[in-house]
Amino acid sequence: MSDRWTPASWRQKPARHIPSDYPDPAALAETETRMRALPPLVFAGEARQLKQRLATVAAGQAFLLQGGDCAESFKEFHADNIRDTFRLLLQMAVVLTFAGGKPVVKVGRIAGQFAKPRSEPIETIDGVTLPSYRGDNINGQDFDPVSRAPDPNRLMQAYSQSASTLNLLRAFAGGGYADLYNVHRWTLGFVEGSPQGARYRELADKISETLDFMAAIGLTPERQPDLRQVEFYTSHEALLLGYEEAMTRVDSTSGDWYDTSAHMLWIGERTRQLDGAHIEFMRGVRNPIGVKCGPTMEPDDLLRLIEALNPANEPGRLTLIGRFGADKVRDRLPALMAATVRAGQNVVWSIDPMHGNTLKAANGYKTRPFDRILSEVKGFIEVAGAEGAHPGGVHLEMTGQNVTECLGGARALSEADLSDRYHTHCDPRLNADQALELAFLIAEKLKATRTGADLLRAG
Ligand code: PEP
Ligand code: CO
Repeated sequence: MSDRWTPASWRQKPARHIPSDYPDPAALAETETRMRALPPLVFAGEARQLKQRLATVAAGQAFLLQGGDCAESFKEFHADNIRDTFRLLLQMAVVLTFAGGKPVVKVGRIAGQFAKPRSEPIETIDGVTLPSYRGDNINGQDFDPVSRAPDPNRLMQAYSQSASTLNLLRAFAGGGYADLYNVHRWTLGFVEGSPQGARYRELADKISETLDFMAAIGLTPERQPDLRQVEFYTSHEALLLGYEEAMTRVDSTSGDWYDTSAHMLWIGERTRQLDGAHIEFMRGVRNPIGVKCGPTMEPDDLLRLIEALNPANEPGRLTLIGRFGADKVRDRLPALMAATVRAGQNVVWSIDPMHGNTLKAANGYKTRPFDRILSEVKGFIEVAGAEGAHPGGVHLEMTGQNVTECLGGARALSEADLSDRYHTHCDPRLNADQALELAFLIAEKLKATRTGADLLRAG
């Protein structure tokens, strides 16, 4: 690991899940060269600011909410989709802020979340075998040889879509759309319409009362511009390293390297090999980064990864994203958390309750039951309480659209409902109602834990 790092040093290491079957490798290289000259999507100073925010999460003083599509797509690229996911994240953040009594750091899986690791490199349908779909920045989803061939032009299209998405997100975040009072009004609409609304009304009413009080003493968006804007950050899995390398620049302020494709990048469960290309690339960029931690990870593996990725133990640099499955989180997480606590590591612990809870419904749809998602989050909060760690955040696949991809929730979505609006380009996402409902239920759990901890301290 002590070898010299450059944005291209990952090319000397074994790389998993990066396509090597571009029909015209020279065209790929030429595209990557052109991308090196494109404007960065984010500014290094913003990535540093997110790192500071995440440092407060690591210290137990804030909570991380990270979420969005499993995979963005060219087809679903629409202002309404961006707006609705942004709005949903804000609504969830208000509920979680109120319940947890702590600021919520908002990070979208958006404006760059295209490339997907696949369990199988090839797919066979009716005796025809083609490369698997790997995400819209690599190849197309249609099952024909032309669509499935990796195409470097898709990198440019993904860059352009990410730039437009980020532009709209910046406008929403700063231009008044994020007005706290509006955000809460939308949530009241959800509570009115939800079959479980009575359960959420108490918390929603308390937020209303607080906002009424704030308005009465003059804390209105008109007089306090902070109430009309939010900080919002972007993130994606740094899977396609050629693209990430091309977006990596020296920051003129600090002289450090930053991957300017997003504020935060993470390493997936399938590409976290210590001697692999993805760890090599990520150790050298100064962005805040995440690592998925699945059920096969042992405490020693984790400590070695931390040593490689955050040798200076810088708070906010590293977010560990557990993804075990509801049936394994209570078994597999405690030793990992205990190891970071014992070693005094300044990390954020977050939970992705999606990727360990995927199953195939009888009718063939890939889906996730709401109850298991909730159970994994609750397990995470309980384990953190027992290990003396801060349950720092959640990482969700969700959309502001009314899709039918995950089972259950207040509307008890059934297997028969899945075919109604199953639109995802990869994994099943929580729809808007399910995601907001989850936020209320996490809020209940956080509140109960907080009250319990306060009582213990008082006693
Ligand atoms: C993902 O976040 O979409 C993903 C592929 O997750 P994981 O690496 O945890 O399997
Ligand atoms: Co996914």
